[in-house]
Amino acid sequence: MIVDTPAWAALAAHAATERPPLRALFAADPDRFRRFSAVLDGLLVDHSKQRVTDETMALLQDLARAADLAGWRARLFGGERINATEDRAVFHMALRHLGPEPMTVDGRDVMPEVRAVRDQMRRFADALHDGSWRGHRGERIRHVVNIGIGGSDLGPRMAVAALDASRRPDIDMHFVSNVDGADLQQALAACNPATTLFVVSSKTFTTQETMANAASARAWLVAGLGDEAAVARHFVAVSTNAAAVTAFGIASENMFRFWDWVGGRLSLWSAIGLPIALALGYDRFEELLAGAAAMDRHFRDAEFTENLPVLMALVGIWNNNFLGADALAVLPYSQSLRLLPSFLQQLDMESNGKSTGRDGAAVTWRTGPILFGEPGTNGQHAFYQLIHQGTRLIPCDFIAAAAADHPLGNHHDLLLANFLAQPEALMRGKTADEVRAELAAAGLDGAALERLVPHKVFPGNRPSTAILLEQLDPRRLGMLIALYEHKVFVQGAIWGIHSFDQWGVELGKQLAGRLLPELRGPARTEAHDSSTNGLLQAIKGWRRE
Ligand code: F6P
Repeated sequence: MIVDTPAWAALAAHAATERPPLRALFAADPDRFRRFSAVLDGLLVDHSKQRVTDETMALLQDLARAADLAGWRARLFGGERINATEDRAVFHMALRHLGPEPMTVDGRDVMPEVRAVRDQMRRFADALHDGSWRGHRGERIRHVVNIGIGGSDLGPRMAVAALDASRRPDIDMHFVSNVDGADLQQALAACNPATTLFVVSSKTFTTQETMANAASARAWLVAGLGDEAAVARHFVAVSTNAAAVTAFGIASENMFRFWDWVGGRLSLWSAIGLPIALALGYDRFEELLAGAAAMDRHFRDAEFTENLPVLMALVGIWNNNFLGADALAVLPYSQSLRLLPSFLQQLDMESNGKSTGRDGAAVTWRTGPILFGEPGTNGQHAFYQLIHQGTRLIPCDFIAAAAADHPLGNHHDLLLANFLAQPEALMRGKTADEVRAELAAAGLDGAALERLVPHKVFPGNRPSTAILLEQLDPRRLGMLIALYEHKVFVQGAIWGIHSFDQWGVELGKQLAGRLLPELRGPARTEAHDSSTNGLLQAIKGWRRE
């Protein structure tokens, strides 16, 4: 077990020693930024405001070696079935591989199939954009509604929002995920059946929410156009399950397939990314793939000491397992990246929210953190108080682009000033003496001044990473997402858990399946605990009234 290695013990001992605060580390070393930051093709990662020294980083490198990270990385890129509980490879890197080299799973080059689906996506996106694909009544498609949930929603939804600046003006994109009818109804209210295309995205094509939304969307379309045959021009599917797609009534030529070696939360690079190609144009989608592929090459080839995903993962483990942080705040200073925290929530928490090790035994160490976030500057006026002065240690990732994607007066300068100020404030804090001097300058003195001092002190020494993009374009977005994907992989490999299954979502699905007929039926049920029985009765009672 990783906690039994000398590398883990050395890190624990290091964490227990008294270490200078960040303010002192910066004061002692003017070169700290240069030494703890790195740039890859317009993407800069700065770890200098993390509570690490050269010694910390060297000990973390020992931990990576103790966990055989190099071996796990080789197994990942070798197409081995490292998703052992589902007996699948984890090979989304093939989806963004744009070179001529083969990418092999089980001795078979998957690239010909991958390229064929890319060609199908390009042809379809082009046909929609040039008007050669039209609706049942011959009208051009103006609205695209993606129906999917989890990995079949969050990635394309986030990417389309992130790249809004290069969105095509002729297509309105909508995303429907929630089984709450409000979601679909609100999307449909903005659409006209004659000009709307539905993309039903589901790896399994069995997900309850998606199937319910797809069935209601289909009923809306058929009612609106008065013809069952209209489905053929207004519905396409993205799935691994051809039989279920056909059973739903979508012709196989209108299906975009992907493969079981693509995890749901890693699937935006597959045909699940079709909405990105439809909203932005297929070439933009390939630029996104190219950015991710550049990060793949870096992750595969760079020394661990210079490897951005590895460094990010190790710093995260330091915070999580040795400094006692429970959470990670992801704070994009970009309205366009407002959905990045939700996307990363699934990526990180569904992957590493595990408490069973690869050997089947319960882990005794912390695994994935609670990930949350909001775009800056909004979060500053909501929950940052706790990050600055609360009792918990919450490491933050601050993300921004140097260039504005929606230039407007001096707005971007204001945004970037805050992007710079918050990590600096967290790192420096404000001492009692600094508070006193400020209050005195404001005219206070004596007891009135002293009473305020403890409340206005900021402890500082609160860690953060800054990620700066040259600009928020498809390539940099692809790099950024792949950076986080590989970080999550590295952390899971070191924690010794299975990062690519998600059994924890099953129980609730099973119970919901059992409760559905009970909710509909007239009989009183006593089949559950008293709370569930009581709530069920209350719902039924109020609905009857
Ligand atoms: O319930 C969780 C989950 O299985 C995710 O892992 C997945 O991304 C999502 O449901 C949607 O699944 P599907 O693409 O099969 O509809």
